[in-house]
Amino acid sequence: MFESIPESKPDAILQLMEAFRADTRPNKLDLGVGVYKDAHGNTPIMAAVKKAEKKLLETQDTKSYVGPIGSRPFCAAMINQVFGAEAQSDRIRCAQSNGGTGALRILADLLKASRPDAAIWVSDPTWPNHIPVITAAGLEMKTYPYYDTDRCAVDFDGLMGALASAREGDIVLLHGCCHNPTGADLNLEQWGKIADLCATKSLFPFIDLAYQGFADGLEQDAAPTRLFAERLPELVVAASCSKNLGLYRERTGAALLVAQDSDKADKALGKLGVVIRSNYSMPPDHGANTSNLVLSDDALNEEWRTELESMRQRMVRLRKSFAESMRKRSNSDRFDYIVDQKGMFSRLPLNPAQIDTLRDEHAIYIVGDGRINVAGLPEEGMDELAEAIAGVL
Ligand code: LMR
Repeated sequence: MFESIPESKPDAILQLMEAFRADTRPNKLDLGVGVYKDAHGNTPIMAAVKKAEKKLLETQDTKSYVGPIGSRPFCAAMINQVFGAEAQSDRIRCAQSNGGTGALRILADLLKASRPDAAIWVSDPTWPNHIPVITAAGLEMKTYPYYDTDRCAVDFDGLMGALASAREGDIVLLHGCCHNPTGADLNLEQWGKIADLCATKSLFPFIDLAYQGFADGLEQDAAPTRLFAERLPELVVAASCSKNLGLYRERTGAALLVAQDSDKADKALGKLGVVIRSNYSMPPDHGANTSNLVLSDDALNEEWRTELESMRQRMVRLRKSFAESMRKRSNSDRFDYIVDQKGMFSRLPLNPAQIDTLRDEHAIYIVGDGRINVAGLPEEGMDELAEAIAGVL
């Protein structure tokens, strides 16, 4: 049986994570996988999360099944976080998912079941794992240009031109904030234009909101998604608690549905429940219950928001200081774009050979397309890093 299986190509980001772990050089620097790191290079459990876990341990009195949709209080908290307290929640539904990726997959399955002939349009470039998730769901994938590598900014004309050629009923996958891998985000005016195009051409928006709170703040980062929910009859959102609650391995996320009315929303959630049941039956509980405590307890919520905001501000500072060091070491302002980009990632203009040299000679780990995890930049030693990068350029 297994001898007929062709060789599999492992995920490049996860492969890099393993290679970094196996590297014994003491001065190694991980700018690869998208996990937040503090000034010591650690990814600690957030203080509010730790308190919520303690509370959960003390108060939870059963491990009995919950159900395919998961924790209803968690789902309500996620609707509130993504769409705001003012949202028309009668047309919004949520299912707890196995992280943001789990939400992407079950929503892709739902869309395939609802509209088997629709193509899904994905930004070029995009998070590499979008492609296998979409392919596994059986959706036809098309790409729209997203990033102008000369300007290091969004290629908005290219994007609009490509989407104008989409067929009625096609799906458009958009990064809600903190575009992965480029860090180049659309502004609200551009989001408005895409929403208008979706309305005119009956395109179906699918928003990947994996980094809410990492770009400009929790509320600000939800603004594009909220604008879409106000202006369009239907959309879906894959939200993640991996980054903003630091729950990576707990696999906590939410698949959110906005429908024309309450009946259609119920029908869509019913089908999503069937999709979940046939995939993995039910989501894991711990991360969602922990998140719910953090999101709904006033004191924990405030502590978490403060902590999240300081993580965001640290990444903003690291962007500035890295761009300054690159300016000094490269004698040019060509890296200034890094200051304006958002969230955890930016792309450096490095080719695979230069990336290999940085890893082999300097123990610096960067994803093969030049993507760096800004949170991994060293507060001390920024000049040495910039020197090594300028050296290979
Ligand atoms: C990343 O892009 O590095 C993260 O989202 C982690 C992953 O699963 O790829």
